[in-house]
Amino acid sequence: MLLKGKTILLGVSGGIAAYKSACLASRLVKSGAEVHVLMTEHARNFINPVTFETLTGNKCITDTFDRNFEFNVEHVALAKKADSVIIAPATANVIARLAHGLADDMLTTTVLACQCPKIIAPAMNTRMYENPVTQENLKLLEKFGMEVISPASGRLACGDTGSGKMPEPDILLQYVLKSCALPKDMAGLKVLVTAGPTQEAIDPVRFITNHSSGRMGYSIARMCMLRGADVTLVSGQTALDPPLFVNTIPVISAMDMFHAVTSNSQDKDIIIKAAAVADYRPAHVSDEKVKKADSEMSLALERTDDILKYLGEHKVPGQFLCGFSMETEHMIENSRKKLINKHLDMIVANNLKEEGAGFAGNTNVVTFITPDTQTELGVMDKEDVAMCLLDEILKRIR
Ligand code: CTP
Repeated sequence: MLLKGKTILLGVSGGIAAYKSACLASRLVKSGAEVHVLMTEHARNFINPVTFETLTGNKCITDTFDRNFEFNVEHVALAKKADSVIIAPATANVIARLAHGLADDMLTTTVLACQCPKIIAPAMNTRMYENPVTQENLKLLEKFGMEVISPASGRLACGDTGSGKMPEPDILLQYVLKSCALPKDMAGLKVLVTAGPTQEAIDPVRFITNHSSGRMGYSIARMCMLRGADVTLVSGQTALDPPLFVNTIPVISAMDMFHAVTSNSQDKDIIIKAAAVADYRPAHVSDEKVKKADSEMSLALERTDDILKYLGEHKVPGQFLCGFSMETEHMIENSRKKLINKHLDMIVANNLKEEGAGFAGNTNVVTFITPDTQTELGVMDKEDVAMCLLDEILKRIR
């Protein structure tokens, strides 16, 4: 419900991609937003306003001179209320009109009156999109501070293949979330987050790993991004999609993670290490598949580098270093030891055996530990844990 209390204007112009806008309207509503849809006259040929009215519970607006309105001067009233406006699909025609301030229907009039973030999702035939006229108009929109989303490539409704497809509603939703979901209280901060498990090869077929899903680290990276930070995510192999607007560096082993983290750590204001890094790797990695024998077998293991300890020992002045600690017993004592040994500013302790905590689920139960404080949180969604953690860190660095 990241858009709870937000008003989003969805402008729909006349292209075949308008059918996907119904799904976007639904996603926005499910994210908690109050959604008002403004359609061009042409858009009504592609999708019925009733669809949007049913999904949003609000009257779908097309006609500037419709008298049957809740507000006296509807376009200005809506523009004032809006937290973000997205035009999806934006046809070449609507892009041209917006670029030149032609306010000749409800959509263009309202957008001209909006001072909130504006997002444009162009969708049209490839040749129209690539035409220098359209490209110049898009540059103008960017110059005026609007966010223009690059269209996807693929087979278009006209049969041509190329660039011009409207991105999927989930991607458009991420743009809206970025524009207005959270106050940008981390703007200007550079954050490095690690997430997921590492994999330590035994041979070309097998590896040693752990159950980390990466969800906690990905939630932290996403919340930092939504709060305006510049985010780098170093991630082990997970089943999760890399978060949009985050620089994700995929790694496999603890050694890869060590190199990715240490070569990206110097300029960071905050480093949060949520990854579950292997402490040991096979001392010898076989080039060929290890064949079974009738006898028992044992595997010699050697220590990996402790990345967090290294960061603590080579700390950049002013940098905030936060680790995670997963325990199954003596959680507080063991985590405090890690806080001190690794020279951390904070450690987030969780007990795998506690109900609602751990790798797999969407929730976690954590205690924030600093050298002089200890704050216990109840069972929480991982995104809420991420929010609380960032609040705690911001309190300490400001
Ligand atoms: N960590 C790390 N490099 C390692 C091992 C751990 O950077 N080789 C980091 C983890 O990302 C986490 C913190 O250290 O932020 C604590 O990890 P955890 O596995 O809980 O503890 P360990 O220090 O590995 O100690 P132990 O496994 O004995 O509990």
